Amino acid sequence: MSRTDALPKAETTTSRKDLIGLLNEDLAREYQAIISYVVYSQVLKGPEYMNIAGELEKHAQEELSHALIIAKQIDYLGGMPAIQPKQVRTSEKAKEMLRFDLENETETIRNYRERVRQCDALGEYAMAEHIREILMQEQEHQIDLATALGIDVPKAKSDS
Ligand SMILES: [Fe+2]
Ligand SMILES: [Fe+2]
Repeated sequence: MSRTDALPKAETTTSRKDLIGLLNEDLAREYQAIISYVVYSQVLKGPEYMNIAGELEKHAQEELSHALIIAKQIDYLGGMPAIQPKQVRTSEKAKEMLRFDLENETETIRNYRERVRQCDALGEYAMAEHIREILMQEQEHQIDLATALGIDVPKAKSDS
């Protein structure tokens, strides 16, 4: 028997250790979202943005609850939750701020869809369920932002 026979077939499933790393990336995106929604909700000016500014305040609180859920999953897997947010972009222009948020939400959704599949593949069904619940809220955030911008909801890459 050759050495390679003993190895598992093509590595299609994510290991638990990989999952910790990926969830920490998700956590860093949640921190980024908290910071941008805290700031954008306060600096968005103009009557046309009154509604969305209020929505963004709610988003900030939802992102905090997502961060807590993700940190809990990392701890459960034996990892240490990350402390650094992904880079937050700012702009003087309201439209640009909303566009940054929309891009981040789209990226977040793409990642959480992948995460649900990875958790399922590892038999971590409860974790997959938590992430599905987060995913539903991220999709609402995406719709709120696209609506405020008057554009269609962008498709995540994994949709196609
Ligand atoms: Fe979130
Ligand atoms: Fe979000």
